[in-house]
Amino acid sequence: MASHVPTPSLPIFIFLLALAAAITSPVDAAGNFTEDVIITSGDGRGKILNDGELITLSLDKISGSAFQSRKAYLYCQIDTQIKLPAGNSAGTITSYYLSSQGATHYEIGFMFVGNLAGDQFVVSTNVVTQGIRNREMRFHLWFDPTKDFHTYSILWNPTHIVFYVDVTPIREFRKTEGVPYPESQAMRLYANLSNSDDWAAGGRPVTTDWTQSPFTASFRSFAGVDFFGDFSFVTKPWMEEALDGNGLKKMQWAQKNFMVYDYCSDVKGHPQQRLPAECTAR
Ligand SMILES: *[C@@H]1O[C@H](CO)[C@@H](O)[C@H](O)[C@H]1NC(C)=O
Ligand SMILES: *[C@@H]1O[C@H](CO)[C@@H](O)[C@H](O)[C@H]1NC(C)=O
Repeated sequence: MASHVPTPSLPIFIFLLALAAAITSPVDAAGNFTEDVIITSGDGRGKILNDGELITLSLDKISGSAFQSRKAYLYCQIDTQIKLPAGNSAGTITSYYLSSQGATHYEIGFMFVGNLAGDQFVVSTNVVTQGIRNREMRFHLWFDPTKDFHTYSILWNPTHIVFYVDVTPIREFRKTEGVPYPESQAMRLYANLSNSDDWAAGGRPVTTDWTQSPFTASFRSFAGVDFFGDFSFVTKPWMEEALDGNGLKKMQWAQKNFMVYDYCSDVKGHPQQRLPAECTAR
């Protein structure tokens, strides 16, 4: 007996395919660096390679280098695979962040602070609200970020911001009553390899070992989707929801095992020793 499976009509079938693609991979359009970003500084030290698939930023005694996205986003998810400078990288800072412009700007970003060979990189995350940078959380990583590429993502939607490392959420910043939230200023993506002898990941001032230079940070598989990007006819789940139970569990694992600094536990680090309001709300 031949079984009869009803076949959806073609337009519906295509819609379902698009829906499945949008849900399983919110960032579906792999970007092309040649089209999506410009190298903004470094006099040739920043290079777009492999037909737009790879960027290397390098740093030597004379200069670092930087790039930024051509487009500004108002709500987005940005995923980029990054490989950090190897060896004794103390004194190097690799920054990767979204930012708007001006004195009361917003910034959402990762900063990777190099360290003496063998010591761990520190990954600093910050949400800068109206120009004020007092919401830092720092982490170690559960792998060596100089050996391979790993994916670092920022999700920014109307109600929450999530920082991910290889799909594991490490930090969530929710819109909270009475706390400024980035919502009216579009942001560009910036990346930057620079030098700072002020401090290394261990918290001590360092002297950069220039015999190791040039230092190189590599970026690939950039993918960014803004609110009205591809598949905008589909209600994107990631645009509306906060982390679910499973996501919260993963984040708790990351924070319990790898968080080394939390502004919400640092009463002395705030004016009048008052913690920002979202600290008591979370
Ligand atoms: C990226 O864009 C540039 C400029 O449009 C083009 O020449 C290049 O072939 C593109 N790369 C890929 C992998 O499609
Ligand atoms: C690069 O980063 C450093 C420190 O993180 C900052 O002082 C500098 O302005 C940045 N440069 C560019 C071109 O983004």
